[in-house]
Amino acid sequence: MTLTIERAKELLATTTNDPHLVVHATNVRGCMEAFARRFAQPPAEVAHWGAVGFLHDYDYQRFPAEHLAHTEKELLAEGVDAADVRAILSHGWMLVNDVKPETDLEKSLYTADELSGLVWAAALMRPTGISDLEPKSVVKKFKDRKFAAKCSREVILRGAELLGMDLADVVAVCIDGMKPYAAALLG
Ligand SMILES: [Fe+2]
Repeated sequence: MTLTIERAKELLATTTNDPHLVVHATNVRGCMEAFARRFAQPPAEVAHWGAVGFLHDYDYQRFPAEHLAHTEKELLAEGVDAADVRAILSHGWMLVNDVKPETDLEKSLYTADELSGLVWAAALMRPTGISDLEPKSVVKKFKDRKFAAKCSREVILRGAELLGMDLADVVAVCIDGMKPYAAALLG
């Protein structure tokens, strides 16, 4: 069965209550919806990509040192489609496993995971948040290695290369995708 956002929320809630991780899940969801629109997916697939994005760090809070080692068996047992489980695993490519992102969904997730953190950190610095955040300002922050240092520039560039998109372009997609959720996240 296609993963829905309702099901993704239900599953993530069984493993994750750290507010930062829930914010991250929401931001990656938004990015994934925007990438799906970018790849001209129909509305049902836009929602599906968002759901995969929301669920991607399913095992992280419980197993930060064994990230993605406790995902495949459990999610398959919960009835999540094998393709969606593979997509989730592939965001650990060259980090914790050798599952290479192959599909547009997988490549988007790989890129969005780290990039959403950088965009969010940039938005938090501004009084107006993400509402009028320009891609070029995020690209500038990208070049400042001390800014949001934990967001891996290498992973973001590798993801953009897989997608065949340039940095400013993937940044613009993520800003666009995260905007609808930002107000609620900022409280
Ligand atoms: Fe993540």
